[in-house]
Amino acid sequence: MTHTFTLAHISDLHLTPLLGFGPHHWNVKRSLGFINWARSRRFVHRLEVADRLATDMWQQGADHVAVTGDIANLGLPDEFGAALGWLKTVGPPDKVTAIPGNHDIYTRRMSGPACTEIWREYIASDTWGASFLGAEPQQFPFVRRVGPLALIGLNSAFPTRPFVAAGRIGPEQLEDLRDCLIRLKSEKLTRVVLIHHPPLPGQTAPRRALEDAEQVSGVLATCGAELVLHGHNHRDSLVWLPSNDESIPVVGVASGSAARTHGLEPLGRYNLFRFSAAGIEMHVRGLGGAAGGVVDIARFALHPDAQPLFV
Ligand SMILES: [Fe+2]
Ligand SMILES: [Fe+2]
Repeated sequence: MTHTFTLAHISDLHLTPLLGFGPHHWNVKRSLGFINWARSRRFVHRLEVADRLATDMWQQGADHVAVTGDIANLGLPDEFGAALGWLKTVGPPDKVTAIPGNHDIYTRRMSGPACTEIWREYIASDTWGASFLGAEPQQFPFVRRVGPLALIGLNSAFPTRPFVAAGRIGPEQLEDLRDCLIRLKSEKLTRVVLIHHPPLPGQTAPRRALEDAEQVSGVLATCGAELVLHGHNHRDSLVWLPSNDESIPVVGVASGSAARTHGLEPLGRYNLFRFSAAGIEMHVRGLGGAAGGVVDIARFALHPDAQPLFV
């Protein structure tokens, strides 16, 4: 198979704890999030794992990297600065595309700019996308052209109450998503939708789920897409969504920074998608052991009849 373009997908880094945590940032949600991080998550999510996987992506021939959110932990402005530093170590904005997750838009903003402002060069349309979307588009969805692909970035995150990690796309983004998918199909581009929360009903518990999953999956099924990538569950998944065109692969990736397993969450992983005239080949790559290197976990043609093997 001759590959024409390779897209890497990594998510849920949860990289930057507790920076800029002052009294004016303190509320119930952040207090509970801090306790969870201090007791458990800080032993799981490690920068060195994310760095090893990012290095491996380029060694594997990635042309572009998609980061589907939860780069930060408590949604603090100083975390966003540190996360921007990490994005820059992965690659320049024309090689890396990001969207926010619920830990990036974590609670109501108390001071400082939002991640969507600080990460803007990684989280906005490119020149082609801006002209495609026309005058005064919303920030989301944004559109980027990378090789034969059109990346469509959605924002499913909004500030939520304690113990709630739900998401929502909302009617305005949904309407623009519908338009984008239809117009990008007419341009014969391979449409890759990026969303943090799993986009189909029933993919996660209600308090962590996308509130308008019925509507989002309805637009995808009606308008079609060639690939949908998400994070949030910290586990690998592959679900096929029937559509008016071909069935759509909806792929979730595990955390890209896990230095140890956590319940059913595996060690750090990322996915590679190799696009060619023959279709899409998917590779799952990740840590072979806590002290080991990055290895192949699974490799298969992304086709409804294929039997992927996740280890
Ligand atoms: Fe996460
Ligand atoms: Fe999340």
